[in-house]
Amino acid sequence: MEADKPVAELTEAEARAELARLADEIARANTAYHHDDAPDISDAAYDALKARNAAIEARFPHLKRADSPSEQVGAAPSETFSKVTHAVRMLSLENAFADEDVTEFDDRVRKYLGLPAGAVTYTAEPKIDGLSLSLRYEDGKLVQAATRGDGAVGENVTANARTIDDIPERVKNAPDIMEIRGEVYMSHADFEALNARNEAAGSKTFANPRNAAAGSLRQLDAEITRSRPLRFFAYSWGELSGPLAETQIEALERLAAFGFQTNDLTRLCADTDEMLKVYADIEQRRATLGYDIDGVVYKVNDLALQARLGFRSTTPRWAIAHKFPAELAWTRLEAIEIQVGRTGALSPVARLSPVTVGGVVVSNATLHNEDYIAGRDAKGAPIRDGKDIRAGDWVQVYRAGDVIPKVADVDLTQRPKDAAAYDFPKTCPECGSEAVREAGDAVRRCTGGIICPAQAVEKLKHFVSRAAFDIDSLGAKQVEMFYHDDLLPIREPADIFTLRARDADNVSKLKNRDGYGERSAANLFDAIDERRNIPLNRVIFALGIRHIGESAANLLARHYGTWEAFEGAVTRAEVGQGDDWADLVAIDGMGAVMAASLVTTFHQEAERASIDRLVSELDIQPVAPPASSDSPVAGKTIVFTGTLEKMTRAEAKARAEALGAKVSGSVSAKTDLLVAGPGAGSKAKKAADLGIEVIDEDAWLQLIGAG
Ligand code: IVH
Repeated sequence: MEADKPVAELTEAEARAELARLADEIARANTAYHHDDAPDISDAAYDALKARNAAIEARFPHLKRADSPSEQVGAAPSETFSKVTHAVRMLSLENAFADEDVTEFDDRVRKYLGLPAGAVTYTAEPKIDGLSLSLRYEDGKLVQAATRGDGAVGENVTANARTIDDIPERVKNAPDIMEIRGEVYMSHADFEALNARNEAAGSKTFANPRNAAAGSLRQLDAEITRSRPLRFFAYSWGELSGPLAETQIEALERLAAFGFQTNDLTRLCADTDEMLKVYADIEQRRATLGYDIDGVVYKVNDLALQARLGFRSTTPRWAIAHKFPAELAWTRLEAIEIQVGRTGALSPVARLSPVTVGGVVVSNATLHNEDYIAGRDAKGAPIRDGKDIRAGDWVQVYRAGDVIPKVADVDLTQRPKDAAAYDFPKTCPECGSEAVREAGDAVRRCTGGIICPAQAVEKLKHFVSRAAFDIDSLGAKQVEMFYHDDLLPIREPADIFTLRARDADNVSKLKNRDGYGERSAANLFDAIDERRNIPLNRVIFALGIRHIGESAANLLARHYGTWEAFEGAVTRAEVGQGDDWADLVAIDGMGAVMAASLVTTFHQEAERASIDRLVSELDIQPVAPPASSDSPVAGKTIVFTGTLEKMTRAEAKARAEALGAKVSGSVSAKTDLLVAGPGAGSKAKKAADLGIEVIDEDAWLQLIGAG
């Protein structure tokens, strides 16, 4: 349907779809204006969207959406809260869905610790579906409350948190510095009452209790928060000046003694059987709890073991969230569209007639790849009993937690007679280049490389993303806009850094454009200049090379140290042969596939020229080995071989890295130290031949102060 079809001529289905589109577009424009400070449409165009939305709502009042733009004034207040850098990062949890995921979790934990079956006990407690909050107490007094934000930096909502009855203002006999973490939520009864009140007053209603809790906590006017019945369960902590207890369960008891609410369904479990029993029990009670939960969280009970297990980049190794089964709904598949990603992957997307799945309106879902649509898996075996998926089909949509919704099943009895089998494109819909499937790859990819506009835009979006260049006021929307701009285009990363100079040469300056003024244009150029000076790991990650994610980029940066060393080595390297290749694949954590992708990219002429243009604009900072430079192993390359008896290989590696060492999988002239346990073979011999220091596990433990 065209976006300009007169409102009077819209059918009900078209009106529903159009309201969804308008809600999306207005929300996007709001974010661009208020949040990113970089409007991407004119005021008049924005007003026209709002007017059209209002006209459709007036004609079809029953279709008015819970998130209707007519109820919203401007944007979410997010940018107006001050920021809080968390003293200890607020992490998320790894998810488990099947029972086996839970037994695997226990296996992994014990393997890491080197403990036998049944040696680790766990707590099991409900996973509250709200939003997490960190409360900082100093000398027993609440001094700060912050939302999670991106885990590193959250929003300061102290005044709002003080209005919540479950949050004590003062605590007795607590460590001088104590951060208590938990979940803010709203009960079902309070949620219904709030929505009824709002509806009567003609104001905004919320889609679910979680949204209501988030919307109520993040109010600029704390008096509004006070009028909302928010609650808080405490379940965890951040910075502490002294320990709370020796076990998770005792720590929860302490939190309760301080005056916090803790969840009384929490249980101690001796093994995975007991964990799964508690899960079944909590799931059974789910409907009668009076508040939303979306799973059960298991945590290692012994806090000393938790400390040994530590963290991965965003999740602890000592906890896992066992989610309740996904939510399902049936709807019409309107069309199958292809999106082209950063690495050229052609991803089929289902455009759906909007449907509510577990409280969220879904209108797009993934169809994975061409085999999935055709009804077979990567090995050619049938999935969904071999049923294929066609535009026009009645399909089942599945959503689990925050996972992207997917089309799970199809009802053949409802298939329209004229529905045709989907013919997956063999050429890129964006640039017309051939799209090929390499042997063993489920994904068909556009071969256009940087001449493909879709790949180029996605690469740019990746380039400016948070873990890459993270340039203030140059987000995904802005790079997309500049990509299509004829006067001041950004077609490749280097163009970002020539923007100021090119603007100066232009007759029509950015500051005179719609959405930009003198200050916002100057701010953008300044923000870009600020990022010319950038650490090596970010540059490598930002290049968006297939298979080279954030952690591979960190490994490479740590290994080579400087851009010159890195660039020289990958340029010299040839896939599968020679010293530079051997050195590259010897980096612990680098596989041959990653290394080949890296080397091939650097050998492609056009890609390489584009990288060189970028690098000539930058001042790339070398990366030193991390932390503890005073540790005796900082900066050293260590290889472990043979059987370790006091700790597992994974733990030894994590410890060494935390002390600033590089851990490599093979012995070479660059190895500084070989830690050899019983059964060490060829590596020990090679080390001896090369004159490398070899020590046993006890000497290693002494060296790192753990003996
Ligand atoms: S523990 C270091 N326990 O779930 C891990 N989290 O999906 C700290 N959540 O960000 C989290 N109930 O907001 C923990 N009983 C519970 C929880 C819980 C809800 C939330 C929390 C976290 C998210 C991860």
